[in-house]
Amino acid sequence: MTKLRAVKGMHDVLPEQVPSWRRVEETFRELAGRYGYGEVRTPLVEPTALFVRSIGEGTDIVDKEMYTFVDKGEQSLTLRPEGTASAVRAYLQHAVHAREPVTRWFYLGPMYRRERPAKGRYRQFHQLGVELFGDPSPYADAEVVDLFVALLEALGIRGVSLRLGTLGGPESRARWKAALQDYFRPHIEALCGDCRRRFERNPLRLLDCKVPADAQLAADAPGALEHLLEDDREHFETLRRVLDELGTPYEVDPHLARGLDYYGRTVFEVHGAQDVLGAQSALGGGGRYDALVERFGGPPTPAVGFAAGIERLLLALPEAPAPDGPQVFVVAAGAEQRDAAAGLAKHLRGAGLRVATDLRGGSLRSQLRRADRMGARFAAVLGDAEVKRGVVQLKDLAEGGTQEVSTEGLVGVLGRRLAAGQPPAGGNSTNT
Ligand code: HAM
Repeated sequence: MTKLRAVKGMHDVLPEQVPSWRRVEETFRELAGRYGYGEVRTPLVEPTALFVRSIGEGTDIVDKEMYTFVDKGEQSLTLRPEGTASAVRAYLQHAVHAREPVTRWFYLGPMYRRERPAKGRYRQFHQLGVELFGDPSPYADAEVVDLFVALLEALGIRGVSLRLGTLGGPESRARWKAALQDYFRPHIEALCGDCRRRFERNPLRLLDCKVPADAQLAADAPGALEHLLEDDREHFETLRRVLDELGTPYEVDPHLARGLDYYGRTVFEVHGAQDVLGAQSALGGGGRYDALVERFGGPPTPAVGFAAGIERLLLALPEAPAPDGPQVFVVAAGAEQRDAAAGLAKHLRGAGLRVATDLRGGSLRSQLRRADRMGARFAAVLGDAEVKRGVVQLKDLAEGGTQEVSTEGLVGVLGRRLAAGQPPAGGNSTNT
């Protein structure tokens, strides 16, 4: 029989890896809450048209990477490759714009892109992100960038660089596109097949090409800044000033186009952990997409957001947090004490403690070895004499030492000693 394995580019997260994931997720949830963002959860599967019409034809995501299938009802569906389009759909479907002028949402979850797997690039990956609807001002852009930077700081991820760009509004962008076509036209025969198609359909995408010769040509292409109309320039200048005020360093990248078509005005990316990820891979990115809500039939609604790849943040984390071992391991010294041990474990769990026990029984030594291997802080040993007298021998597995404690007083003693990280009292004293 062929071995069953996870789909290429999709990974299991085993219990020993979960503490790092939770640290990222919980830090983000807590921070997003502090900035006033509420969590939104949308389906993993959406109508294909949602992504084609937002991310855009001519992008790698739509042309090459989507997991699209026709379901039994003959509808074309796609596993979401990102979160922004779904957030916009939900925002409109529930007429959130009619309830409040400004909406702040955050989300976390799996996304799907059929990319070539590499370190930090997977086919199922996870994003955390925010979307801010209803505020056109550069202060909203600054808030979103600041939240992202604050997240990296809270996670202890250093050595990152923030690249900031602007595409301008529709008119500025049209001027820039024309300038790009003028620049690339004399070289069109030398471009790769994808770029020749992009030249007409989507000239901004000429700037993302990974083919070395094309990328080299793109490096000298005209940038966005010299094609900005006055109000687009002002928006960008104000954003820069606010970021300066907030003490957030950035470098202006006039060629930053991002790989999705819905952006206008601000775009940004954060790069870091380049030793593991390489120079091309961003920890996250985002920008403004003022036209998208309207394009899907809503009222004109400016919006800005970002998303970061959780796996990439994990690769950049300075150290992995240790998994939480059990606080107490309950040991039945002999088979006759297994009932009492089961009862004690339940009692301690009911008091809110993390408790492990070896349900298979086994020798005292093997159970203590197992407790040690699991990283248990204490072992509560029940022998025949202990059960009869209503006590346990409480062994401190971190510091050494044994203390006799009444089963009634055990929760209190453990609570105090765990809180204080106390050394053992030493000797055999009964403590109630
Ligand atoms: P994106 O740049 O396509 O933007 O993706 C954001 C982040 O998701 C990337 O910087 C990267 O960290 C992570 N990511 C993307 N693809 C992969 C992959 N195959 N494997 C691992 N990580 C990956 C967006 O998705 C926009 N929706 C961001 C946004 C929100 N713009 C406005 N609001």
